[in-house]
Amino acid sequence: PTLDAIKEKGTFTLMTATGFPPFEYLGADGQPAGVDIDVGKLVADELGVEYEVLDMDFGLLIEALKSGKGDMIGAGMTVTDERAQQVDFTVTYATAGQVLLLPADSTITSAEELKSGDYTVTVQANTTGDIYVQDTLGISSPLQFKNAVECAAALAAGKADAAVIDSVAANTIVKNYEGELKVLDEMVTEENYALAIAKGQEDLVEFVNQVIEKNIENGTIDKLLEEHTAL
Ligand code: ARG
Repeated sequence: PTLDAIKEKGTFTLMTATGFPPFEYLGADGQPAGVDIDVGKLVADELGVEYEVLDMDFGLLIEALKSGKGDMIGAGMTVTDERAQQVDFTVTYATAGQVLLLPADSTITSAEELKSGDYTVTVQANTTGDIYVQDTLGISSPLQFKNAVECAAALAAGKADAAVIDSVAANTIVKNYEGELKVLDEMVTEENYALAIAKGQEDLVEFVNQVIEKNIENGTIDKLLEEHTAL
């Protein structure tokens, strides 16, 4: 019945958190753009309804979904057990892992090193990178920002010694900081990204899974990743 409700409503609403290229960022026109934004549009088109995007802080997305502010989260969101208790995830459409983004002249060579030193580590609040830094590295109060773009800016401004953020975003953002920032190859986590839908909407999950599978098979997802990384 969810599908019918969306068709009746006439609009499919995607919720995202920009500042995380290539998945979501603000385009030249100031509007959200990116892989997740385009995938949401593919779903809206298949449903034959209007499309709307709501941009908010990453940490607010799950509550907003639960309270019905939108139909789906597309935010480079990693599937975790804790989140899966609150929302339903679609099939995976991309993979990534946490990496270290560092000042170009940094002597840090591994995440392990952050455990021992007196370092300021910056993270995107409420993300898997935040959880990794606190729980695995044992750094109790990392410098939290809203998104990866803000973490990189803080690092470039000398406010932190390292940022722990998702590999794909780090590799995209670093292009804007040539000679200033670098990414370590070491990936310290393995993560799967999926779209999230409020519990109890199996028909919508099934529908979106079909859209994702089709667009993985026909190469559209790869093409979108390439296109939005090149910016
Ligand atoms: N993959 C990480 C997580 O799920 C970070 C995602 C951040 N996404 C964003 N749109 N700002 O926790």
